[in-house]
Amino acid sequence: QTEPNLSVTVVGASGDLAKKKIFPALFALFYEDCLPQNFIVFGYARTEMTDEELRETISRTLTCRIDKRENCGDKMEEFLARCFYHTGQYNSEENFAELDSRLKQKEDGKTSNRLFYLSIPPDIFADVVRCASGKAFSKTGWTRVIVEKPFGRDSESSAELTRSLKQYLVEDQIFRIDHYLGKELVENLSVLRFSNVVFEPLWSRNYIRNVQFIFSEDFGTEGRGGYFDNYGIIRDIMQNHLLQILALFAMETPVSLDAEDIRNEKVKVLRPMRPLRLEDVVIGQYKGGQSKGGKSYLGYTEDPTVPNNSLTPTFAAAALFIDNARWDGVPFLMKAGKALNTRRAEIRVQFRPVPGNLYKKYFGMDMDKATNELVLRVQPDEAIYLKINSKIPGLGMKLDQSDLNLFYRTRYLKEIPDAYERLLLDAIQGERRLFIRSDELDAAWSIFTPLLNELETKKIAPELYPYGSRGPVGAYYLAAKYNVRWGDIAGDE
Ligand code: BG6
Repeated sequence: QTEPNLSVTVVGASGDLAKKKIFPALFALFYEDCLPQNFIVFGYARTEMTDEELRETISRTLTCRIDKRENCGDKMEEFLARCFYHTGQYNSEENFAELDSRLKQKEDGKTSNRLFYLSIPPDIFADVVRCASGKAFSKTGWTRVIVEKPFGRDSESSAELTRSLKQYLVEDQIFRIDHYLGKELVENLSVLRFSNVVFEPLWSRNYIRNVQFIFSEDFGTEGRGGYFDNYGIIRDIMQNHLLQILALFAMETPVSLDAEDIRNEKVKVLRPMRPLRLEDVVIGQYKGGQSKGGKSYLGYTEDPTVPNNSLTPTFAAAALFIDNARWDGVPFLMKAGKALNTRRAEIRVQFRPVPGNLYKKYFGMDMDKATNELVLRVQPDEAIYLKINSKIPGLGMKLDQSDLNLFYRTRYLKEIPDAYERLLLDAIQGERRLFIRSDELDAAWSIFTPLLNELETKKIAPELYPYGSRGPVGAYYLAAKYNVRWGDIAGDE
């Protein structure tokens, strides 16, 4: 039996995400020989473009891995020769029928699986799926559809979106992507927990005093203000990326590694989470500022695509709680912001102090700070390290904190694949573990929707913070309310 064809259609092919992430990821998979022999890609968008023009545009963003440059140029040519473009409207059945005939022509009568990647705004998802399902879905193999967030703005709009997609698709055909789930360190979180004996027994309120999920970027919303202003940082980062990591962090041991078993556990931990309350949230918005080098930056509302009086948060900090036996009372803190002083994403687990610590008098620091802390640095420079107390060598007894380190860069001498590569490959192989099921999505929105409504109806003004700073001071008060220090437990962030 011959291997079926695979046709990937990138809807919204002229957009930024397609150029920066999707085509390069497909090329990387092709280069690594992960794709079927008969594999083609179609770009689909409204912009008039020829196949050649598409090839020319995407060729600028394809890259080779540092450790695998051999034949890369030839492979690129081979890949580009498999890329085609079809100009069409998103709501035109006729245009999708044309796409279908072009696909068929290339597929040459063989069994063909079709994957559609919707890299378009959610208000046109339903149109595209309607037209594609009527005219361009595979008749001989499977058809799957990858959708990108935002999956709505709140519980209601998200449920509406799910309803409209399900008129044409069954749940198993929908692959809701959250690219944070494709990041190497996030994948490793479960490995760390469930295949080492030293972590899982400590993974509860008995030993953990707080957990922090931190996302910061050192650039603003430049060029994306139009999209961003309608969503804000809570919907852009917290409700999806950070909450997904939290769910993996806090879930119970799944029955197996099967997608449904894992997703069942994620839903089970999201459902007992308390809906966020206004008093447990701090929001901020960046204003213009100057870097140390004297370069000046525009504030969020100075972006021409953002209304001058916008109250949209570009920063938020929140304290969340899971009302279940394992996590009762443990604060899960999230912090996400744009235009801050660094670019970083990490998980920090701060452990409780050792009861009756024998070595109390030998610590040069406050005992409260001398506790263990586990850090998973998702990016940049992937790392896992554990802060331990240790004796400073020499006569006498003096203690300090040191790190047990796993630095990916020095331990694994290879480039880490981009999250989109892993996720695209999973979608092609029908592996749903890292995609979000609709009940997970509903549970995630339930936690944030009341807060989002309240922020909007009460027109809560964000605290302004300078571009390139550490963000609003309110975030420090929020953490202090729960006896938490952001970042490094010893106080230096
Ligand atoms: C996207 C957000 O989902 O993630 C962006 O919409 C954000 O606002 C981006 O910049 C961050 O992704 P990464 O992989 O660069 O950390």
